[in-house]
Amino acid sequence: MLARMDALEEVLMCKLDDGRKAVDPCTIVIFGASGDLTARKLIPALYHLFKEQSLPVPFRVVGFARREKTDEAFRAELGEALKQFSRTKPVDEKVWAAFSANIFYCMGDFGDAAAYEKLAKLLKSFGEPKLADNLLFYLATSPSQFAECVEHLHNVNLLRKDTNAHWQRVVVEKPFGHDLASAHELNAGLTKHAHEKQILRIDHYLGKETVQNILMFRFSNSIFEQIWNRASVEQVQITVSEKIGVGGRGGYYEEAGALRDMVQNHLLQILALVAMEPPATLEAEAIRDEKVKLLKSIRPLRPADVEKQVVRGQYFAGQVGTEFRPGYRQEPKVKPDSNVETFVAMKLFIDNWRWSSVPFYLRTGKNLPLGASEVRVQFRPTPSVLFAAQAGQKLDANAITLRLQPEEGITLRFNGKIPGTSLSVRPVRMSFSYESEFGAYTPEAYERLLLEAIAGDATLFIRRDEVETAWGIVDAIRAGWNGKPLSNREFYSAGTWGPVASDDLLAQAGHAWRNPLPMAPKTT
Ligand SMILES: NC(=O)c1ccc[n+]([C@@H]2O[C@H](COP(=O)([O-])OP(=O)(O)OC[C@H]3O[C@@H](n4cnc5c(N)ncnc54)[C@H](OP(=O)(O)O)[C@@H]3O)[C@@H](O)[C@H]2O)c1
Repeated sequence: MLARMDALEEVLMCKLDDGRKAVDPCTIVIFGASGDLTARKLIPALYHLFKEQSLPVPFRVVGFARREKTDEAFRAELGEALKQFSRTKPVDEKVWAAFSANIFYCMGDFGDAAAYEKLAKLLKSFGEPKLADNLLFYLATSPSQFAECVEHLHNVNLLRKDTNAHWQRVVVEKPFGHDLASAHELNAGLTKHAHEKQILRIDHYLGKETVQNILMFRFSNSIFEQIWNRASVEQVQITVSEKIGVGGRGGYYEEAGALRDMVQNHLLQILALVAMEPPATLEAEAIRDEKVKLLKSIRPLRPADVEKQVVRGQYFAGQVGTEFRPGYRQEPKVKPDSNVETFVAMKLFIDNWRWSSVPFYLRTGKNLPLGASEVRVQFRPTPSVLFAAQAGQKLDANAITLRLQPEEGITLRFNGKIPGTSLSVRPVRMSFSYESEFGAYTPEAYERLLLEAIAGDATLFIRRDEVETAWGIVDAIRAGWNGKPLSNREFYSAGTWGPVASDDLLAQAGHAWRNPLPMAPKTT
């Protein structure tokens, strides 16, 4: 068993420390290249990969969008955006000049067949066969345009299912549908002309170093994995809190809500990584098989269970820190009588051997006191017979907190004796911080994800059955709500940790939320 752990660790190290692995020459074609995502995330990520010499040699980037512009104008626009959004400042002008010489622009409408012919010609003009055949299509577009783009790419033979020496892959951004039926339709459109393994669905949460480290932490440390089960764990809490409100995104949020926007993807993905069984290998499919198995083991929620196990909430006006925030119903583009949830908390059970009867509490919300993502694994308390008499107190249970953001790290909480003659005990912490241990090198999630997409490693991308299983869970909750308006108990003041009903959900079992604190290493 230990030998297997060592081997796993070795492979994990190779796999996670792959910043400079060999990658084939290719062209990255961005559809929707004059949009926000390209300026804010994709170009800064590609620039940094180029700077670190992680991009293949040669490579090209082609931007595809509607408005007319020259290559030079496109490069100049992206250069300006980079100054604003680059994670390292100032931008290295020499590096940018060398990088941007590889960027081209192709004007066209997604629905115009001729535009794709033009794209094919442009790719051929690069003169190197691999630049015209190894193609990463990044669809930074609305999901309603995915199928159309894929169809046209197939029609001009740029996207082929039968690639042998060459490869073509399609990267898509969430939202992957708004319910199971629409996700199914979206996936059918995507896989009509591409194999599932050519489709890479991005959840940028999975590109975060610490989210990846959940697997490393669990499967390369025998001391933790031994106790990662119902015999030792009393409850697990997953919190993804946002300090911001919906701001200018009211229009989008009215259609989404916290359940679809956060739970369907980020929270269920974190849950899957925290609770899944060890994969047989570290191949993408083996890991994704285990994640799907876990999601399928979540006990289905019937409408009566939703009432008992799921709490939703919506913020009203309040103070977040020093800032006054309007209520959700007063936000721009939000209906004054909207019933959309800006907060959701739930208790889920995983019906498998490892986790039987252990509650998993998940919550997320907007306008909460601080922005943080944490997984807290709370262990069973020791019998209090020994210390209760002498110390006169109930001992706190041990806990491991995996802090995913903002200060990535891991904290172990245990009891220590307060120095002195009396036998007093209080919880103390052992904290590990990524930054203190490894320095401040934290590549943006998009850098890791783009590199993995170019390298063809699908581990960090979400497979069709994962997406659809997660939608099944979310749809069941929505069915339980059944369009019912929010009750008074379901509102919370901006700047608090959600409605009272969220605390009651845990109190029923004698549990309580442990809220992240601003300085995460000092969480209690
Ligand atoms: N922005 C983010 O940080 C972010 C994060 C996660 C996910 N996403 C998702 O990523 C997708 C893109 O978001 P975005 O914020 O970049 O959108 P955006 O700013 O609205 O940009 C849309 C882009 O698509 C192009 N476009 C739209 N219709 C077109 C058509 N018929 N033919 C050709 N080009 C067309 C636009 O080109 P023109 O300008 O030439 O019209 C523009 O380049 C969305 O699905 C969004 O939900 C975005």
